[in-house]
Amino acid sequence: MRQRRKVFALELRRARRVSGQHRQRKSSTQHKFAVLLIARHLEQRPLLELNTPFSTERQSEKGDDIDDPLGKPHLRSSEQNESLQSVQKTIKMSNQPPHPALLIPGPVEFDDEVLQSMGHYSEAHTGPPFVQCFSETLTMLRKLFQTSDPASQPFVISGSGTLGWDQIAANLAEKGDEVLVLHTGYFADSFADCFETYGVKATQLKAPIGDRPQLDEIEKALKEKQYKLITVTHVDTSTGVLSEVEGLSKLVQRVSPETLLIVDGVCSVGCEELRFDDWKVDAVITASQKAIGCPAGLSIVMASGRAIQRFKDRKTRPASYFGSWQNWLPIMQNYEAKKASYFATPSPQLIHALHTALTQILSKPLSERFAVHRATSQKVKKTVTDLGLKQLASKPENQANGMTTMYLPEGVTPPEILPNLLKRGVIFAAGLHKEIATKYIRFGHMGVSVTDPKRDDIDRALDSLKLSLADVGHKV
Ligand SMILES: Cc1ncc(COP(=O)(O)O)c(C=O)c1O
Repeated sequence: MRQRRKVFALELRRARRVSGQHRQRKSSTQHKFAVLLIARHLEQRPLLELNTPFSTERQSEKGDDIDDPLGKPHLRSSEQNESLQSVQKTIKMSNQPPHPALLIPGPVEFDDEVLQSMGHYSEAHTGPPFVQCFSETLTMLRKLFQTSDPASQPFVISGSGTLGWDQIAANLAEKGDEVLVLHTGYFADSFADCFETYGVKATQLKAPIGDRPQLDEIEKALKEKQYKLITVTHVDTSTGVLSEVEGLSKLVQRVSPETLLIVDGVCSVGCEELRFDDWKVDAVITASQKAIGCPAGLSIVMASGRAIQRFKDRKTRPASYFGSWQNWLPIMQNYEAKKASYFATPSPQLIHALHTALTQILSKPLSERFAVHRATSQKVKKTVTDLGLKQLASKPENQANGMTTMYLPEGVTPPEILPNLLKRGVIFAAGLHKEIATKYIRFGHMGVSVTDPKRDDIDRALDSLKLSLADVGHKV
């Protein structure tokens, strides 16, 4: 600890020296870069704009970059060597090769044991050992979501979080239905787009950036039209805005009790309190790679008995084949009852990894897990405020506990800060909200980086943030 403080003090002095020079060196090319930037997560590759379905232009890497696993360094080679050496010196992440701490809002750092579970020898997806593992995984999910209602139904299907949107749109809505999408950032736009794909009419209720739609506005909207579903992004990963699910649920039950409440919990399940039964939620969608701490590749959904009944009562067939609960419901029920079943091949290795991640999570009370995420979040947010930075989510009640979004100082852009952080062994994410993407960065603090006391990822990230800001001339 003392050694780390000494290194930090030395680095801070060096950063202050450099900062004087930096102001003069800053060129307009860097700003052009920033204007081009929509979003991308940093790695040892050239700075490229992230292509999304909402991008107007496509950007591709040249063939030689693709062939070379390290790509052309975006840092000059001497800087890159220096950065890799410093990463190797400072980071010993258990048995994993030295690497920068991945502190983006998902995927996150993974525990050794979870990664080792991925190396399970091949086994039949219908054989008793795997069926046992899948059964336990589904049962553990009930505990994670805090549901003891036997009518609740977990689904674990190969895919990513996005497949959760498809499952909701294809199974719980029918062509021509109206749904209300509460908007707190990028991910509501995408969920709405997904509904429209299935011919479902999505109305978005928007709030200013960093805020969330207020209960009185939602009440007004719910009284104007009968909506089949209302959706809320528990934590919008583009803005770090946390929505209040319990109060929303009470409102929906009072004003529009027939409307099903759907929660996008991709960036919240595992780090934010979410009480499925108590809060009378009808479906939560999530994914493996964020606060659950398992590599990407699994779409995880918990549906209430009421949602399953609504699905069974539909008049039309789901407009998706792979995502249809008609196909998956008996499979999930069979697996949980330890009966071999087949609709489409699951990934045994990923299910093993999820089993390990859930076993670890449930080895302690969930309340402790949420408390440690809250405490870390407060520490991060205090440091960010002390550094003179503003958060997108300015009101404390809107602030997520698993991530922090911060505006950069005036005139500083993500391409100036992110390589500096990488040099110090941490990776943050650039902005994603398309209107302000060049003005802010995102810091994900969830999973083992927060819960494993052997890791110093968060402290190192905060020190690195201070130094990197000093490098670009930001004075506190
Ligand atoms: C809130 C939210 N919803 C949905 C998604 C989509 O998940 P995936 O990228 O795993 O498909 C994400 C991804 O980051 C997300 O953050």
